[in-house]
Amino acid sequence: MKVLVVGSGGREHAILWKLSQSKTKLKLFCAPGNGGISEIAQLVPIKVNEIEKLKEFALKEKIDLTVVGPELPLAMGIVDEFQSAGLKIFGPRKKAAEIESSKSFAKDLMNKYHIPTAAYRVFTDEKAAVDFVKQIGTPVVVKANGLAAGKGVIVASEPHELKLAVQAVKQVFHNHDSKLNQQKVVIEEFLEGEELSLMAFVDGETVIPMQTAQDHKRIFDQDRGPNTGGMGAYSPVPQFSEEMIEKAVKSVLIPTARALVKEGRSFTGVLYAGLMITESGIKVIEFNARFGDPETQVVLPRMDSDLFKVLMACADHNLSQLAAINWNKQAVIAVVLASQGYPGKYSTGKQIYGLEEITNDNIMAFHSGTAKSQDAIFTSGGRVLAVTAKGNDLATARRQAYLAAGKIKFDGIHYRKDIGAKAFIKA
Ligand code: AMP
Ligand code: GLY
Repeated sequence: MKVLVVGSGGREHAILWKLSQSKTKLKLFCAPGNGGISEIAQLVPIKVNEIEKLKEFALKEKIDLTVVGPELPLAMGIVDEFQSAGLKIFGPRKKAAEIESSKSFAKDLMNKYHIPTAAYRVFTDEKAAVDFVKQIGTPVVVKANGLAAGKGVIVASEPHELKLAVQAVKQVFHNHDSKLNQQKVVIEEFLEGEELSLMAFVDGETVIPMQTAQDHKRIFDQDRGPNTGGMGAYSPVPQFSEEMIEKAVKSVLIPTARALVKEGRSFTGVLYAGLMITESGIKVIEFNARFGDPETQVVLPRMDSDLFKVLMACADHNLSQLAAINWNKQAVIAVVLASQGYPGKYSTGKQIYGLEEITNDNIMAFHSGTAKSQDAIFTSGGRVLAVTAKGNDLATARRQAYLAAGKIKFDGIHYRKDIGAKAFIKA
């Protein structure tokens, strides 16, 4: 069987790594992939937004299943396009993917179906939005409506940050960069609490939750500095009890899947709920219509079932017929190694040393921004690698992850030293 994974990050590397362990013999392709992925899959030089080209490739190669990693092709309708051409693909159709690509749609859906989330208002008028932000003051959260590659959210918690919130509103109305970015802004109540990422395989009303993970969004230790795509993750998250996770599945994931069916936007793929566990209960921060990055790097190593079978069952719309998905009790931590300057400007092309020293079966180096050239690996992006370690408990996994991270060297390497620390404070 031939499988094509669309994307080029650590998430896609982890998906391919897991697929390479399938009982079914698979020939793996990745478009466009990266230096690490080239070791386990054939790279296809097509970008994630070149949907026609991806479709032509899948038809020509007779790809049996395409798996979509990032949000952009989903928001552009890659699933609808592939299905119309008779191709099998894992991911939500465009109208279902709006749960991620339109924050106002997601908020209105939650409001209509009583799914707990922060109070909000949507504005299409710049002046009204600015006046509203000034009127309510800080703390306040401003969100661009469309996809913004993790840069669409401004959290202004202190009074002196009100200026930033106002600026963020103005930026939304003056940013004509993306056709997907409608001129709408969501202004939201600030939520306080601890965050949790809960992903599930969803096919219509069938919801099979994965194990939980916690991301580390800020660039510096102790959650300081600007937001990034994610600087590390761990799973499980012992601060949250089984009961609480079950409650999140029952009060968020299942009603959302049902609501999407009712709205004629039945969802198939990974539904990812970014949750805040507040004093007044579980609230949704955001939904994503895909696997999280770097959450996938820590969740898939805990999956004992065959990922290929699960993805196929979703793409065939018979997930409800699948036997339960099995998970192991191991703990997994991923530490993201980034280029100096990320999430701002950074340079690339730095040679990466030490990868060959990672020979322990319990450690995986999932590549994000890397490129291979004449048997050497070079940096090619902001987030470079996720050094991921498995262990019998979080403390062991953490020690192993940092030992391995310490062996890797490249010019300007930066990584957080406190990935997973919250699990020890509150456990
Ligand atoms: P998002 O891009 O929606 O995931 O938001 C990025 C980050 O901003 C989240 O992971 C939270 O840390 C923070 N955030 C988003 N919405 C809120 C909110 N209503 N209250 C507090 N923090 C938030
Ligand atoms: N880790 C957050 C995301 O994938 O959006």
